[in-house]
Amino acid sequence: MACPENMFFLIGLFMSGVLACFGQRGLIATMPDRLDVLTGSCVQIPCAFDNPYQYVYSFDSTILTSGVWIKESPQFAQSPNNVVFNSGKKVNRYQGKITGNMSQQNCTTVFFNVTTSYSDKYFFRIESQPFRLTYPEKYVEIVVMDLPPSPIITVSGEVQEGTPVSLNCSAVAPCPEHPPELAWTLPTQFTPENQLQENPDQTKSVLSTVTFTPSYLHHEKNITCTAVYPVGTSNKTAEHTMMLHVSFSPKDTSASISPADPVLVGSCVNLTCSSTANPPVTNFTWFQISGGKPTQVASGQSYTLNVTVGDGGLYYCEARNSHGRGKSEEEKLAIIGQEEPVNPKVYEIIGKTLALLFLFSLIVFFAWRRRTSRLSNGFEMTDRS
Ligand SMILES: *[C@@H]1O[C@H](CO)[C@@H](O)[C@H](O)[C@H]1NC(C)=O
Ligand SMILES: *[C@@H]1O[C@H](CO)[C@@H](O)[C@H](O)[C@H]1NC(C)=O
Ligand SMILES: *[C@@H]1O[C@H](CO)[C@@H](O)[C@H](O)[C@H]1NC(C)=O
Ligand SMILES: *[C@@H]1O[C@H](CO)[C@@H](O)[C@H](O)[C@H]1NC(C)=O
Ligand SMILES: *[C@@H]1O[C@H](CO)[C@@H](O)[C@H](O)[C@H]1NC(C)=O
Ligand SMILES: *[C@@H]1O[C@H](CO)[C@@H](O)[C@H](O)[C@H]1NC(C)=O
Ligand SMILES: *[C@@H]1O[C@H](CO)[C@@H](O)[C@H](O)[C@H]1NC(C)=O
Ligand SMILES: *[C@@H]1O[C@H](CO)[C@@H](O)[C@H](O)[C@H]1NC(C)=O
Ligand SMILES: *[C@@H]1O[C@H](CO)[C@@H](O)[C@H](O)[C@H]1NC(C)=O
Repeated sequence: MACPENMFFLIGLFMSGVLACFGQRGLIATMPDRLDVLTGSCVQIPCAFDNPYQYVYSFDSTILTSGVWIKESPQFAQSPNNVVFNSGKKVNRYQGKITGNMSQQNCTTVFFNVTTSYSDKYFFRIESQPFRLTYPEKYVEIVVMDLPPSPIITVSGEVQEGTPVSLNCSAVAPCPEHPPELAWTLPTQFTPENQLQENPDQTKSVLSTVTFTPSYLHHEKNITCTAVYPVGTSNKTAEHTMMLHVSFSPKDTSASISPADPVLVGSCVNLTCSSTANPPVTNFTWFQISGGKPTQVASGQSYTLNVTVGDGGLYYCEARNSHGRGKSEEEKLAIIGQEEPVNPKVYEIIGKTLALLFLFSLIVFFAWRRRTSRLSNGFEMTDRS
C-alpha cells in the first residue's frame, strides 16, 4: 500500500516526465489587453488560464495554488521587486484579492486603491506544485487616469419624427463593485433602463437605454449622458453631449406675395414659399384657386409673374421632401381696377339691406301720408266749425 506521501512523489515524477514531453511550455492566460482605471478606485482584471496538462493534472482546490502578478516584465525570480501581488503571501505591495476560483482556472483579480504608479504591464503566473509557470506573451496594460473617460452614446438607426428611437449610453466600469451611475438629459420625457453588462473581453460596463418618439421640435437639440463614478467619498463625472438630427416633413410652410399691395396689370409680382424641413425641401409647387379648385401653376421656391387679367385671386404653395409635404395658407394677389371676385354672401347682405331700406322708406312714406291727410281733415273740420 502506497502512502499519500509516496503518491505525491509518484505524481511529481510523472509530471516531470510530462513537462519534459511538452517542453517548457508557458501558461496560457486570457485577460484584456488594456484597462483604463481611475485613481483612488479599484480595478478588476478579468483573468482565466489554461491548463496545458489538463489530461494528467487538474487544479484541485485541495492543492494550494497561488496566483502571482508581476509588473513590467515576465521575469519572476530575477526581479522580485516587480512581484506586486502573490496570493500565497499575507503582505503584498498591492492591496488585492483573487476573486476568481483558481480551481476553475479563474484568476480574476481586484486591486484596491489604485494610484498613478500602477500604470504598467502586468503578467500572471501560477505558483503551484508541480507548476511554476508564467505566460510571457500575454499581459494586461493598466492605464491609470485622474478623470473617467466619456461615456459613449449610440443611436438605433435614423432619427425620424414619429418613429420611436432608442439610445444607448455605455460607460466602462473598471471597478464593478462601484459602477458609475448614468443619467440622461433629453428634450422630452423618458424612462431609462440601466444595467451592468459584460463585454466580450470580460470587462464590465454600465449600459443605460432610453426610448422615445422624436418630433421635429427635437431637431438640433442636445442630448447628454452623464456618468458619475463614486471614488472614495467624492464623485468623478464624465459626460457626452450629442446633437439630435431629426428628419421630418416640411413644417411652417408659408407663401408671401411681393409687393403685398394691389398691383397693375403688366407689373411684376414675386410669390415666395418658405418652409423648414429635414432633409431640405426638394420640390416647391404653386397652386392657384380657380373655379373653387386648386390648379398647379408653377414649381420652384419663387414664382415670378408678369400680371395679366386672369392672375388675380388666391394662391398657395406646397413644399415636399422625402418624408412628406406641407401646405401654406392661401394668399391673395389683388389687381388694381379689377372687380374683386365678390362672394355671393356679400350680394345677399347688400340685397337684404336694400330690401330693409325700401320697406322702411315705405313705412315712413305711408305714415307721413296718413298724418298729412288727418291734419288737412282737421283743418277742414276747424274751418267748418
Ligand atoms: C471568474 O470570477 C469572477 C469573480 O468571481 C466572476 O465574476 C467571473 O464570472 C468568473 N469567470 C468565469 C468564466 O467563470
Ligand atoms: C471552486 O470551484 C471548485 C470546483 O468547481 C468548488 O468545489 C469550490 O467550492 C469552489 N470554491 C468557491 C470558493 O467557490
Ligand atoms: C484605501 O485607502 C484608504 C486610505 O488610504 C483606506 O482607508 C481604505 O481602507 C483603503 N481601501 C481599501 C479597499 O483597502
Ligand atoms: C443597445 O444595447 C443593447 C444591448 O446591448 C443592444 O441590443 C442594442 O442593439 C443597442 N442599441 C443601440 C442603439 O446601440
Ligand atoms: C449643443 O452642444 C454643442 C457641443 O457640445 C454646443 O456647442 C452647443 O452650444 C449646444 N447647444 C445647445 C442649444 O445647448
Ligand atoms: C455622488 O453621486 C451620487 C449619485 O449620482 C449622489 O447621490 C451623491 O450625492 C454624490 N456625492 C457627492 C459627494 O457628490
Ligand atoms: C409684361 O408683359 C407685357 C406684355 O407682354 C410687356 O409689355 C411688359 O413689359 C411686361 N412687363 C414686365 C415688367 O416684364
Ligand atoms: C422678383 O424677383 C426677382 C428675382 O428674384 C427680382 O429681380 C425682382 O426685383 C423681384 N420683384 C419684386 C417685385 O419683388
Ligand atoms: C415637383 O412636383 C410636381 C408635382 O408632382 C412635379 O410636376 C414637378 O416636376 C416636380 N419638380 C421637381 C423639380 O421635381
